[in-house]
Amino acid sequence: MSALVEVKDLGKVFDVSAPWLNRIIERKPRQFVHAVDGVSFAIERGRTLALVGESGCGKSTVARLLVGLYGVSAGSVRFDGQDTATVLKTADALKLRRRMQMIFQDPYASLNPRWRVRDIVAEPLREHGLLTDEQAIDARVGDLLQQVGLARADAVKFPHQFSGGQRQRISIARALATQPEFLVCDEPTSALDVSVQAQVLNIMKDLQRQQGLTYLFISHNLAVVRHVADEVGVMYLGRLVELAPKQQLFARPRHPYTRMLLDAIPDIHMSGRARTPVQGEVPNPLDPPSGCAFHPRCPHANARCSAERPLLVQRDGAQVACHAVEEGRI
Ligand SMILES: Nc1ncnc2c1ncn2[C@@H]1O[C@H](COP(=O)(O)OP(=O)(O)O)[C@@H](O)[C@H]1O
Ligand code: SF4
Ligand SMILES: [Mg+2]
Repeated sequence: MSALVEVKDLGKVFDVSAPWLNRIIERKPRQFVHAVDGVSFAIERGRTLALVGESGCGKSTVARLLVGLYGVSAGSVRFDGQDTATVLKTADALKLRRRMQMIFQDPYASLNPRWRVRDIVAEPLREHGLLTDEQAIDARVGDLLQQVGLARADAVKFPHQFSGGQRQRISIARALATQPEFLVCDEPTSALDVSVQAQVLNIMKDLQRQQGLTYLFISHNLAVVRHVADEVGVMYLGRLVELAPKQQLFARPRHPYTRMLLDAIPDIHMSGRARTPVQGEVPNPLDPPSGCAFHPRCPHANARCSAERPLLVQRDGAQVACHAVEEGRI
């Protein structure tokens, strides 16, 4: 199997400097955020890679880099063997965009409240010139709505007439309109009630099975990730700190940050293991800690950790960036 999506040394830097005049008056330097730094992974066709990490770790930036909503500052994204930044500059850009779609966290904000569902779902069909005949569009929209468990008759309604879960189904129907191969899902169920989350996740899994879809699935919630992922990447302050097959990551988390996240999820097996809230906070990305960025929060940190940045190292089928793991201390 070859990877559909391949990301190598991906980096994104944002210039968050104050306006020029303010900088001069207040004698402030330019400021940059390394939102994503040296991230590499591959996703095979029909598989799901989940990215997890607390807010501000760079997950959404990775998502936007992958679908070309942001330009890369460093590294590359390859889709089906082609460098996306290159293709997006050519006449084939639209053809590539059709093959990848994104689903966002807040289905209400991403659906135009004044449009009927029919026009929302049909928008990509029109944009890509896939269908022009109105009857054919009606038929296709009806099919798409049915695929996500809505009724064909829902096409005439407006977004506010639906629940949160139904609205996210509408977003999924719209994303599927161009028959994409790759879906980037950025916290698609985080705004929904737990019971509704499961329904939407199940629909996404069914669609994946039926259509051979490949997913990048972003969530801060490891319980959700457990439900959908094949592989899991854990991000901390813009970097991947652990990348492992799902079973392995949950059975044997290596990185202290992964362990901290896992200890914080409620114990679904009721084995009596205490739930430990996540300790501390993500540091200011404008002034990241030296060495291992996790060292101020890490129970295993030592002098080497605050001086030397650990690299991702392959071991036993997983990749981990931690000195203590490498040294066999944990
Ligand atoms: N458009 C932007 N301009 C400036 N800084 C940004 C922008 N988008 C994200 N950032 C910064 O990049 C870092 C990563 O953000 P983000 O990718 O949204 O993380 P996550 O999705 O994991 O919460 C944060 O420090 C955030 O403030
Ligand atoms: S490198 Fe050191 S500080 Fe970083 S996670 Fe490993 S033990 Fe903790
Ligand atoms: Mg985000």
